[in-house]
Amino acid sequence: MTGAAGLDLSDIHHAYAGTAVVRDFALTIAAGELVCLLGPSGCGKTTVLRLVAGLEPLQQGRVIIDGRVVGAPGRDLPPEARGVGFVFQDVALFPHLDIADNVGFGLRRQSAEARRRRVETLLERVHLTGYAKAWPHQLSGGQQQRVALARALAPAPRVMLLDEPFSGLDTRLRSVVRDEALHLLKADGVTTLVVTHDPEEAMFMADRIAVMRDGRLEQVGAPADIYTQPASEFVAEFMGEVNRIDGVVHDGSVATPFGRLPTPDHADGTAVHVLIRPEALKIAGADQGILGAAPIGSLAARVLASRLLGRTSWVHVCFDTDPAHRHDEPDAPQRHSHWHVRVPGQFLPAEGSLLQVSLDPRQAFVFAVQDPT
Ligand SMILES: Nc1ncnc2c1ncn2[C@@H]1O[C@H](COP(=O)(O)OP(=O)(O)OP(=O)(O)O)[C@@H](O)[C@H]1O
Ligand SMILES: [Mg+2]
Repeated sequence: MTGAAGLDLSDIHHAYAGTAVVRDFALTIAAGELVCLLGPSGCGKTTVLRLVAGLEPLQQGRVIIDGRVVGAPGRDLPPEARGVGFVFQDVALFPHLDIADNVGFGLRRQSAEARRRRVETLLERVHLTGYAKAWPHQLSGGQQQRVALARALAPAPRVMLLDEPFSGLDTRLRSVVRDEALHLLKADGVTTLVVTHDPEEAMFMADRIAVMRDGRLEQVGAPADIYTQPASEFVAEFMGEVNRIDGVVHDGSVATPFGRLPTPDHADGTAVHVLIRPEALKIAGADQGILGAAPIGSLAARVLASRLLGRTSWVHVCFDTDPAHRHDEPDAPQRHSHWHVRVPGQFLPAEGSLLQVSLDPRQAFVFAVQDPT
C-alpha cells in the first residue's frame, strides 16, 4: 500500500503509434472528491480515463487507487479488479438484457435476492422505478444514460470515471440528469473523475477543475479560481468568452480604453494581450452587482445590438467617442471596435443608444503574447 485514499496519477505519458497524446500527467483526487477534466476535443481526456480504468496498458507512470497500485508499466490490473465504475462517451447498454439485468450486470456474484434489491434501489435513485422489465431500445437517450449510471454505481465502486456522460442530452434533460448524478456520487462519497469539454458543466459539478491542453495539465484548482484567476490565456479563453485587446507594457502598466492596468508580472516592453470578461464591463444604470470593487474609466459606448439569452443579456457595443486625452498616450491600445458586455437579467438598450461603460479591473487578465507573430 502506498499513499492515501482516493485516486493518484503520477508521471503518466502515453503515445499511440509513437505520437505522444498524454504527457507529464499527474493528478491526485482525494477520497470522495469530484474533479472535472476539462479540455478541447482531442487533448487526451478519454485516454487518461482509459488508462485509469485499465482499458489501455500503461506505458509510463503509476495509477494508485486507495493506496493500491493498480496500473504500472507491465503490471496492469484488469478493469474488473480495480474497483472502478465507468460510463463512457457513447452509452452502450446490453441490448439483449432488460433494464434490471443491465443494472445488475456487475452483481452476478451476489444472490438473486440481494441483486434484485440492489437493482431496485438503484432504479429508484435514478428515477426509473417501474422500468426493470423494459428493454434498452424502449428508453429515451436520457433514460439510457441514467441506466448506464445505475449500472456503474451498482457494485459500489470506490472510483467513478465518467466520460462526457451527458453529452447526448438536450439542455434541460442534461441539467436534470447531471444534477441527479452529482447528488448520487456525493451521497455515496465516490471519488470521481468526470470528463467534459463544457466549462459550465465543469463549474457546476466539480470540487476542482483540471484544465487539459494538448496532453498536459494547464491548471488545476477550484472552479472559482480557475475562472477568476486563469493561469494562462488558454485557460481564460477556454473558461468563458473574453474581449481581447493588444498592448505593450510601459512603466509597469498597460493602456486600455478605460485607463491603465498594472502589470506587475511583466517587464517593460513586453507585448501583451488584455482579456476582459464581458461581465467585467459595467454599464451605468444596469444592475450588475458591483461588490465593493471600484470600476475604472467611464466611456461612452454606442449600442450595436442587444439580445436576451435567458438568464443574461448580451450587449454589443463600440466606443465611438474617443476621449481626447487618450490620444496623448504613446502606447495607446489598438482600438477594439466591437465589445461584448454581459448583464444579468433583461437589459436590452435600443440599437444606436449611448451608454456609459466602465471596467471592473479584477476581471481583466494580462498575459504576455506567446507567439508574437
Ligand atoms: N486508439 C487510438 N489510436 C490512435 N490514436 C488515438 C487513439 N485514441 C485516441 N487517439 C488520438 O489521441 C488523441 C487524444 O484522444 P482522446 O480521445 O484522448 O481525446 P479527448 O480529449 O477525449 O477528445 P474528445 O473531447 O473529442 O473526446 C487524439 O489526437 C486522438 O486522435
Ligand atoms: Mg473523449
